[in-house]
Amino acid sequence: MRFGILYSRVRVEEKLLFEEFERRGIEFDLLDDQKLIFDITDPSASRQYTNYDVMVERCINHGRALYSLRILNDWGVKTVNTAQVADVCGNKLQTTSALTAAGIPQPRTVVAYTPESALEAIEQLGYPVVLKPAVGSWGRLLSKVNDRDAAEAILEHKETLGSYHHSIFYIQEYVRKPQRDIRAFVVGGETICAIYRDSQHWITNTARGGKSSNCPVTPEMHDLCVRAAKAVGGGIVALDLFEDPDRGLIVNEVNYTMEFRNSIAPTGVNIPARMVDFCIRVGNDGWAAANGWDNGGPGYQPVSLTAGASAD
Ligand SMILES: Nc1ncnc2c1ncn2[C@@H]1O[C@H](COP(=O)(O)OP(=O)(O)O)[C@@H](O)[C@H]1O
Ligand SMILES: [Mg+2]
Repeated sequence: MRFGILYSRVRVEEKLLFEEFERRGIEFDLLDDQKLIFDITDPSASRQYTNYDVMVERCINHGRALYSLRILNDWGVKTVNTAQVADVCGNKLQTTSALTAAGIPQPRTVVAYTPESALEAIEQLGYPVVLKPAVGSWGRLLSKVNDRDAAEAILEHKETLGSYHHSIFYIQEYVRKPQRDIRAFVVGGETICAIYRDSQHWITNTARGGKSSNCPVTPEMHDLCVRAAKAVGGGIVALDLFEDPDRGLIVNEVNYTMEFRNSIAPTGVNIPARMVDFCIRVGNDGWAAANGWDNGGPGYQPVSLTAGASAD
């Protein structure tokens, strides 16, 4: 079996994955996203990309990841994750919508397209609210808005100083979670482990100083995470969960090219080994089987469906 690994920078995570492939004697090639040239309309001349049993995506930039996966999937190349998962998870608005369709509990979330309608939505939700860029990570450019003065200022700043995307106003109720949230890892339909991220700050990302410790995976958490992962298309995902005082566990977001360096030691789970196991299953059995879906899953798009499908 031959693997390709699409990457931007060799971080701790990528090194751990390489080691895991090497330990199993599996060959892999590294494809630097800065050097990629996809001849989209000529897959037969693109064997350097299509010859892999599975392409593993580890790009830092969402656009590069998403477009590469889209092209590869349309060429019939199996990828981890799929373009569909990247599309849904790389955009918080689309994640919220997909989770809603699957009946997954989440923070109340509203979208508006102008500062005026956004202000109206914020006033209806009630303070504090959280504003987030629909595409973003590491807790960057999040705003907790405590009153109308702040709301007006931030909306004006976003519209005037930001790109068009900052005027897609993604507005959430502020969830009064304890001084922590939970990061849970789902691989191929199983919640393999979870950590608490403790922080004095309301933003708990480990990239922002959140401290990780083991969080036991309860049956309730497992069930919620697996359903949420399925709702976004399955694969290898990391979910942010909040412990809401009234509603219990709710899902804040789902990440598709996750970092995991801070989660191996506290949980004792060899996350890269589980990821490589999943990639091998995808190569051998296909996406649906690797996710444990007997009859496909939501949004599961078999790459070669048209080839064998009969019209009547
Ligand atoms: N609605 C909210 N209520 C309370 N805390 C929040 C809310 N949204 C985000 N946070 C905090 O900010 C962190 C980062 O937000 P998140 O939506 O996960 O964006 P990112 O993609 O940057 O990680 C969360 O892990 C959580 O600690
Ligand atoms: Mg997050």
